[in-house]
Amino acid sequence: MINRCLFPAAGYGTRFLPATKAMPKEMLPILTKPLIQYGVEEAMEAGCDIMSIITGRGKRAITDHFDISYELEHQIQGSSKEALLDKIREIIEKCTFTYTRQNEMKGLGDAIYKGKVLMGEKDPFAVILADDLCINPKGDGILTQMVKLYNKYRCCIVAIMEVPKDEVYKYGVIEGNAIEDGVFMVSNMVEKPEIDKAPSNLAVIGRYILTPDIFDMIKNTKPGKNGEIQITDALCEQAKKGMVIAYKFKGKRFDCGSVEGFVEATNYFYNLEKTK
Ligand code: G1P
Repeated sequence: MINRCLFPAAGYGTRFLPATKAMPKEMLPILTKPLIQYGVEEAMEAGCDIMSIITGRGKRAITDHFDISYELEHQIQGSSKEALLDKIREIIEKCTFTYTRQNEMKGLGDAIYKGKVLMGEKDPFAVILADDLCINPKGDGILTQMVKLYNKYRCCIVAIMEVPKDEVYKYGVIEGNAIEDGVFMVSNMVEKPEIDKAPSNLAVIGRYILTPDIFDMIKNTKPGKNGEIQITDALCEQAKKGMVIAYKFKGKRFDCGSVEGFVEATNYFYNLEKTK
């Protein structure tokens, strides 16, 4: 049973400066909802009720967002605005939030390793990178699809999508054999390869299901691309020793870590709201 979801959220968000000078990038809104709340809602839909956030300096707004705001709630009580807080109230009521800090930026693998105390060493857990905003308007959310797959294969799973060859340098890229429609057995993974060194154009996006033995793998992972501890390298080791599945998810993904993807997501969600 997967009931925990880890949200690495310690990065600086330099691509959004000056907006992210005093505000966490995970709090940037698509319409009226912060990016991280989209992630939390996706995790809830998938069955998680423990949301664990890896934060860092300057990220307090995230902690405050997932807490009651008595003054504000008192202020808008009985007004038409009250309904705007319904969803966040439900989240706060149903979920437990836990936090720890990543003190130094040593990569995504290191950030996930910091989550070991929060995830424990017994159960599998999900990981969501909130700036990858995912939606499947026609059915199960991306994480729900992955949880269903986990119940079948019981191993680490990464979500993948096809990207143009000249964009592979932005992603972890997998090599693998299809074992069913849209499902690959991973044989190799490379973090942000140059175009001619990429084993495929199947790019990992920010959704993972990890089994707790990943923590030992990360511990034994040497700094890789950009001198950082990469989850891609730990998973590559896992794939060689055991089994890792890559899953071509159904739905859309927006790279809200880039201004272009952020604007695209904004337009998409605006049109979706308008047609409701
Ligand atoms: C991280 C991972 C990368 C993955 C990407 C998905 O990179 O290291 O393997 O493909 O997320 O968004 P980042 O975008 O944080 O540099």
